[in-house]
Amino acid sequence: MHRRLIVPSVLAASLMLAIPASAAARGSAPSDATPGAPGIGDPYYPAYGNGGYDVSHYDLKLKYEPSTDRLDGTATILATATQDLSRFDLDFLLDVSEVRVNGAKATFATSGQHELEVTPARSLAKGSSVTVVVRYSGVPSTKSAYGFSTWHRTPDGAVAADEPESAWWWFPSNDHPLDKATFDVSVSVPDGTQAISNGVLQSQRSKLGRTTFNWRSNKPQATYLTTLAVGKFDITTDTTAAGVPIVNAYSKDLGDNYGAARASVERTGEVADWLSGYFGPYPFSALGGYVPNTTTGYALETQTRPFYSPKQFANGANTSVIVHELAHQWYGDSVSLKGWKDIWINEGFASYAEWLWSESEGQGTTQQLADYVYDSHPADDAFWTVKPGDPGADNQFDAAVYDRGALAIQALRNKIGDTAFFRILKGWPTEHAYGNASVADFEKYAERISGKPLAEFFDTWLFTTAKPAAPAAAAKARIARPDAKPVRPRSWEQIERTHRTVHAH
Ligand code: ARG
Ligand code: ZN
Repeated sequence: MHRRLIVPSVLAASLMLAIPASAAARGSAPSDATPGAPGIGDPYYPAYGNGGYDVSHYDLKLKYEPSTDRLDGTATILATATQDLSRFDLDFLLDVSEVRVNGAKATFATSGQHELEVTPARSLAKGSSVTVVVRYSGVPSTKSAYGFSTWHRTPDGAVAADEPESAWWWFPSNDHPLDKATFDVSVSVPDGTQAISNGVLQSQRSKLGRTTFNWRSNKPQATYLTTLAVGKFDITTDTTAAGVPIVNAYSKDLGDNYGAARASVERTGEVADWLSGYFGPYPFSALGGYVPNTTTGYALETQTRPFYSPKQFANGANTSVIVHELAHQWYGDSVSLKGWKDIWINEGFASYAEWLWSESEGQGTTQQLADYVYDSHPADDAFWTVKPGDPGADNQFDAAVYDRGALAIQALRNKIGDTAFFRILKGWPTEHAYGNASVADFEKYAERISGKPLAEFFDTWLFTTAKPAAPAAAAKARIARPDAKPVRPRSWEQIERTHRTVHAH
């Protein structure tokens, strides 16, 4: 008898401790609350992302119609207010019919190029948890911001995969890599059509002519790395040596590129296992790749499941692009940049991984590739005017970020020696796993691990708008053959194709 009475009262006591805290947070709306900033503070893209809150999870329930490109959605966003908030923005372009904040209807309006301004019925206290539900619909291909769209329709569906903008066309978000979150993406499509997203396919159910695919990505994920592809795909599955489940998807519509696409992407497990030898254990619990029937030229490191354009496979199998996008899973996805100016950490290291792969395939050593990049760009080439460490928004995906970026990494290796270099290559993804880091953070880390002052070195290789003087050893070799022409490693053609990804807009 006593125990029966005691247990509820203990429970009641602990509930009383728990409830007042959150009730206080929600109950007393702060009176001096102010609007969250319409941008997260990225100098390259001042309006991208938002201030005042931090998202921990997105739950997207979507219904997509391939024939009309109509998308209906309900997004449930779990966030924490990081200031007393009277109002906050989401980045979004589709038509919103209702927004609820902590259960109560909120008012909303659009502003700027892609801002959805949400005013909750009661302002939100700093530190309190916030649940936002957004109901929406629209035809994504009819929407644009700054005059461009990155929603790509295909003959049998659509694809959302672009950088840095991709989310605006299909879910409301705090669209910046600084605010990473986990994702559940549920998509209803007509039977016979598949929906591909990140992570693990939790379930797939067919009912009344429609199939719902439920995907889960359970590690922090940047919004631009969150992907959706709808279409008719052939799906293959496998497991890596380390036991990670692989799901790949190939549009049935790839024509002559089908074989080469498959001959490349089917090597995903092998490549990820090989990369883990340099970068440490693969950071996620799902893996794969998908090749929709797009006309886009680039590939993208969408988390756990990169997007590949069929064009990457026009000359036969292309393992370089697989290596590149999978290297990003460590450099870019698990460790994300803090600001878009830090893009060198993503693209330089993903490119350097291609150089390591080239060497292991006997297609040219990393030093031969570095020499080729160095020698094939004369001092007056505009190539040297782009600073990989701060290229500017317009040059974010310039060849210099990739090739000069990888050259800087080979120069670092020559400067500090292989032991420190490979410790850094493997240590960095662990040091900042699932977080964010900047080029400045990398410089400090490299100095710490190598025990060498490197400020001048990084200034020369990452922040100078002129061709750096050849490192001593290379200069000596060149004196021996003064009229030497650049020697083009066999892997170059593939590497160049991966890098010649002009920014679509
Ligand atoms: N991170 C991608 C890659 O290295 C580049 C994406 C470029 N974006 C674009 N719209 N072309 O493969
Ligand atoms: Zn890349």
